[in-house]
Amino acid sequence: MVHVIDHPLIQHKLTLIRDKETGTKDFRENISEIAGLMAYEITRDVPVNEIRTETPLRRCMTRVLAVDIVLIPILRAGLGMMEGITNLVPTAKVGHVGLYRDHETLEPIDYYAKFPTNVRNATVLVLDPMLATGGSASAAIAMLKREGAGNIRLVCIVGAPEGVRRIENDHPDVEIFLAALDEGLNDKGYIVPGLGDAGDRLYGTR
Ligand code: PRP
Ligand code: URA
Repeated sequence: MVHVIDHPLIQHKLTLIRDKETGTKDFRENISEIAGLMAYEITRDVPVNEIRTETPLRRCMTRVLAVDIVLIPILRAGLGMMEGITNLVPTAKVGHVGLYRDHETLEPIDYYAKFPTNVRNATVLVLDPMLATGGSASAAIAMLKREGAGNIRLVCIVGAPEGVRRIENDHPDVEIFLAALDEGLNDKGYIVPGLGDAGDRLYGTR
């Protein structure tokens, strides 16, 4: 299932990162801020436990998160979404998946994976700004499932219908959250209109 979060603050910041004139500093800040705003919506339904708390005035019942939140940024570009979310959920544990797309075949090549020990029982957010063919996200989710993760949500900023279909086909149990669902892919596998190469724009590598 795909959810497009069309909150005005997110859409305003999305306009800034789509703009080709936006430089590295503003691109990086807005990617991070969009991710934080999206995480606020996406975690709306996570379970809570009631606990007893002593305020300076008296005892009362309060609520705390009942599950661990684990963040899995897909390197490189997923790292740009981290800070905005860890600002909101400072106790989140973080794993990393290293993947890049082969420029010719568009198939993901994996080069790194390290997961926290609590993925099995946690709410896991897989982070990548771009969902293009869906190959990278699908591979990352498959790795997490092999580690025992059962509650996985995919958080991307811009998605293509091709990528959404791929995840719905490969991982029908995984909900997809986007800030925008774009028209499709061009002949080089870039999302149109998209925002270009997210990794290069985040890190100034091109
Ligand atoms: C980009 C992006 C995704 C992937 C999306 O990464 O950040 O991981 O492409 O494409 P897909 O849906 O077709 O798999 P890239 O391969 O450019 O690596 P980078 O983040 O290291 O630049
Ligand atoms: N990866 C990107 O960074 N941008 C795209 O449009 C597609 C894949």
